[in-house]
Amino acid sequence: MTFKDHILQGIPTELPVKRAYPKDANRAPKRKDILSKEEKQLAIRNALRYFPKKWHKELALEFAQELQDFGRIYMYRFKPNYKIYARNIGDYPAKSKQAAAIMLMIQNNLDPAVAQHPEELITYGGNGAVFQNWAQYLLTMQYLATMTDEQTLHLYSGHPMGLFPSSKNAPRVVVTNGMVIPNYSQPDDWEKFNALGVSQYGQMTAGSFMYIGPQGIVHGTTITVMNAFRKILQKDETPAGKIFLTAGLGGMSGAQPKAGNIAGCITVCAEVNPKAATKRHEQGWVDVLIDDMGDLVTRVKQAQENNEIVSIAYIGNVVDVWERFYEEDIFVHVGSDQTSLHIPWTGGYYPADISYEASNRLIRENPELFKEKVQTTLRRHAASINNHTAKGTYFFDYGNAFLLESSRAGADVMAENGIDFKYASYVQDILGPMCFDYGFGPFRWVCTSGKSEDLDKTDAIAAKVLQEIMEHSPEEIQLQMQDNITWIKNAKQNNMVVGSQARILYADAEGRTKIAKAFNDAIAKGDIGPVVLGRDHHDVSGTDSPFRETSNIYDGSKFTADMAIHNVIGDSFRGATWVSIHNGGGVGWGEVINGGFGLLLDGTPEAEARLKSMLFYDVNNGIARRSWARNEEALFAIKREMERTPNLKVTIPNLVEDNILNDLF
Ligand SMILES: NC(=O)c1ccc[n+]([C@@H]2O[C@H](COP(=O)([O-])OP(=O)(O)OC[C@H]3O[C@@H](n4cnc5c(N)ncnc54)[C@H](O)[C@@H]3O)[C@@H](O)[C@H]2O)c1
Repeated sequence: MTFKDHILQGIPTELPVKRAYPKDANRAPKRKDILSKEEKQLAIRNALRYFPKKWHKELALEFAQELQDFGRIYMYRFKPNYKIYARNIGDYPAKSKQAAAIMLMIQNNLDPAVAQHPEELITYGGNGAVFQNWAQYLLTMQYLATMTDEQTLHLYSGHPMGLFPSSKNAPRVVVTNGMVIPNYSQPDDWEKFNALGVSQYGQMTAGSFMYIGPQGIVHGTTITVMNAFRKILQKDETPAGKIFLTAGLGGMSGAQPKAGNIAGCITVCAEVNPKAATKRHEQGWVDVLIDDMGDLVTRVKQAQENNEIVSIAYIGNVVDVWERFYEEDIFVHVGSDQTSLHIPWTGGYYPADISYEASNRLIRENPELFKEKVQTTLRRHAASINNHTAKGTYFFDYGNAFLLESSRAGADVMAENGIDFKYASYVQDILGPMCFDYGFGPFRWVCTSGKSEDLDKTDAIAAKVLQEIMEHSPEEIQLQMQDNITWIKNAKQNNMVVGSQARILYADAEGRTKIAKAFNDAIAKGDIGPVVLGRDHHDVSGTDSPFRETSNIYDGSKFTADMAIHNVIGDSFRGATWVSIHNGGGVGWGEVINGGFGLLLDGTPEAEARLKSMLFYDVNNGIARRSWARNEEALFAIKREMERTPNLKVTIPNLVEDNILNDLF
């Protein structure tokens, strides 16, 4: 059978042979054994819905074993034998080019070179799933291959509910992940629903097929680290020889040393898992690997003296580094943390004074004691950071729930008012006011031809467009424009392409729209093949996340999720090729609602109309909400947009003088 035949077949007509689990695969962690006996039966009953009766007996036994061994039913037997990667768009069997583009993006997200646990259909973040099981993948690909431009495929947490008649202007796919009734949004609810096979954690770009490998996170981290140093350095100072101290060399946190090198500082990044640290070192993402605290201190002092730009991985607990640097009087200019505190009890954050291996045993054998140790360590961690910040260190929360979990552990991280945290999040201080409120966010694209020449051409187009816009840009956004022009000019040499030919940069609505239009023109002329546009969910409008993307909303609305919901609905009828909305993402199940889109540019006038309408709304929805929350930069941006776009009429807040309120109550 050819690749196309396999796709068209969907669930195979013959039961595939059972295979051994591949030896070299990076296996997803064993999930919690959370279901009762009756619920386990329900999980098997649910899984067997995908298969004919004659296989039920055999598969029931096998799936029960998977549930016991892994805590989930992945249906390994049904993983196809063909190679999974982003092929040229023309290689997919399809009646709809838009559907073919989605197939390409799905395969990119499951490509073993891209995905973290490809056998378990997990793209990143330990639990960021594209599908819950292989049956869902097979059926979805079959639906996509057979659908027309007058149908829409509806995906419920990876499950393809089916094709419904729609229209050419409707999205081809609507994705929801992890949507639950709000009262059922505790972490254990996810464990249970996912084990039952009825819900999944799509993270942000995994379950929306828009993950493009580490490039996205390197770019975002670079922008953050660069702007963090700008906040504290004098205009004539550079970050060279100055320390950025942080933790985590995992899936996304591994970008920190690379970003630190691009930003030009000394990065010290602690990582308890020797395998993760060694992997990043071997990949060239971190320059120096040290496992002895004395050696670390010596090397760091030397780097300070020589004004070096260098990244150092320390194999050990980050708390020990903070404490030792304080004793040694090593001044840390910028501090942060990217351990996985969104999942603190299952290995996201490792306690001090106990080895990595012993911690892993404790998680399984005595989770209560593990939790206690995590909380004790968090209190120490925060106390040491407080000592450093008292000497002038600039510390920010990196959207990993560090302050939230520290506060829950009783650490000294609350501000005097007892409501806010002592430290700002990177969105409150950096990305919010400097980027999101002006509409700048992580715009990305994928060249569906799979050709690197196409990517080079799009890089050049984007650089030219941004340069032209910058010549007429107001002072307020010049820095962002310049940073992104520099980034795109150097993007190729950073060598960040893994999987599909993809690129990212931060742009506002004008930049995104003009770049997209220039791509569409180039496609129409035959200079490049079709291009898929998208973005990270971590953006201006797509995500309501009170401790991250919307942490700089101060009118009390940061715990609402209207913006994300409006965004996904608004994008869907303005021309998105697919839309997605998720519960959960970087900060955890129940803590965020995030959404995204994909849009295929095929060089047609219809694509031009779609990109203009959709990208405009996709950015300005968030600026409008941010301006209603009285954010100064967003007020500037939305007023500027209304002057250029007479059809845009946004409600502008009246600002109240403090003295009117002071004596009221
Ligand atoms: N704001 C953002 O833009 C942004 C970007 C990326 C990641 N994040 C957040 O950062 C966190 C990390 O993401 P990830 O994908 O890298 O997760 P990950 O689990 O792959 O990596 C985290 C790493 O931290 C290490 N670690 C845990 N406790 C430690 C300790 N006490 N000392 C030293 N190392 C320790 C772990 O061994 C692991 O390798 C997540 O919570 C994520 O949501 C935020």
